[in-house]
Amino acid sequence: MKILVTGGAGFIGSAVVRRAIADGHEVVNLDALTYAACLANVACVADGAAYAFEQADIRDRAALDRVFAVHAPDAVMHLAAESHVDRSIDGPGDFIETNITGTYNMLEAARSYWVGQGRPASFRFHHISTDEVYGSLPADPSVKFTETTPYDPRSPYSASKAASDHLVRAWHETYGLPVVLTNCSNNYGPYHFPEKLIPVIILNALAGKPLPIYGDGSNVRDWLYVEDHAEALLLVVEKGTVGRSYNIGGENERTNLDLVRTLCGILDRLRPRAAGSYGDLITFVTDRPGHDARYAIDPTRIRTELGWRPSVTVEEGLERTVRWYLDNEAWWRPLQARHGVGERLGVKA
Ligand SMILES: NC(=O)c1ccc[n+]([C@@H]2O[C@H](COP(=O)([O-])OP(=O)(O)OC[C@H]3O[C@@H](n4cnc5c(N)ncnc54)[C@H](O)[C@@H]3O)[C@@H](O)[C@H]2O)c1
Repeated sequence: MKILVTGGAGFIGSAVVRRAIADGHEVVNLDALTYAACLANVACVADGAAYAFEQADIRDRAALDRVFAVHAPDAVMHLAAESHVDRSIDGPGDFIETNITGTYNMLEAARSYWVGQGRPASFRFHHISTDEVYGSLPADPSVKFTETTPYDPRSPYSASKAASDHLVRAWHETYGLPVVLTNCSNNYGPYHFPEKLIPVIILNALAGKPLPIYGDGSNVRDWLYVEDHAEALLLVVEKGTVGRSYNIGGENERTNLDLVRTLCGILDRLRPRAAGSYGDLITFVTDRPGHDARYAIDPTRIRTELGWRPSVTVEEGLERTVRWYLDNEAWWRPLQARHGVGERLGVKA
């Protein structure tokens, strides 16, 4: 299958590109190369005949039409987005334009191409979204997000993703575009951009800097190793039922404080400090405005219909991740100089 992957120079998109090529697919990576992009993430596949790169912005409809016409993909996996909640609090405009208008452009470009091809039933538009569209859960561990949980987004980021999900469903119902959707929990793993929680903690620890925990650290997230997510996404684009959405989660709920303590324990083993534990660097800072208390995914549908399960526990995945950052300073060091990285963002509200 030839897959047009948008956002393939980002964290999850690049894992999808690497995995798709390893699985024998052809990939066209469409990315605007914003501050969050890094082409080094796909360097290991970039020289192969199965890979093509197009620098294009999903806000530019004409550019999208050209990419569809030149490459004639069998499927689209749409991951390009503004993805950092803290940045969405400081500057929601980019999130509205890329995540909503950009997705609208992708849908219209895909629809025009699909109609021109004679509406092949095998075509897929796979929209990759987040569990944050469902809002915040109570502490009760029996309550989780299912595919029928009502949408209740609470940040500019999650609201923009929710809007894009609605557009994708509407293009299926109204125009018959063969879509599938996925809503995933928090990812972590190699190539995670150094403004997100897990890399911030690892890199601050290595630098002997404070390890910032928002609020009291009691917020719960359901952590998923990025390579497990990429595997699930490829399964959905190949075998998912048209018009259906699938929740993807790691069944690995942790409070932020527990997560950071686990990372400190791994670092204490792998790269001991001269004195004390990395845990001594934990520092509680002002909470994020509107910080959702808990996210947890019920992955029953993708497990029973498509047979997918995460392959690693959060302990295994975190250890792999820490080792990757220890071994790949040449990747992360230059990214720390990019705009806003390392600054506390999202406290203006
Ligand atoms: N990171 C997570 O934990 C998580 C969880 C669930 C869902 N998601 C979703 O997965 C997708 C990928 O997330 P990520 O963490 O890899 O994001 P990321 O920020 O690491 O990467 C986003 C990529 O999209 C590109 N991009 C941004 N705006 C663009 C535009 N206007 N035109 C073309 N390309 C553009 C960037 O250059 C970058 O390469 C997003 O849609 C996000 O909402 C992320």
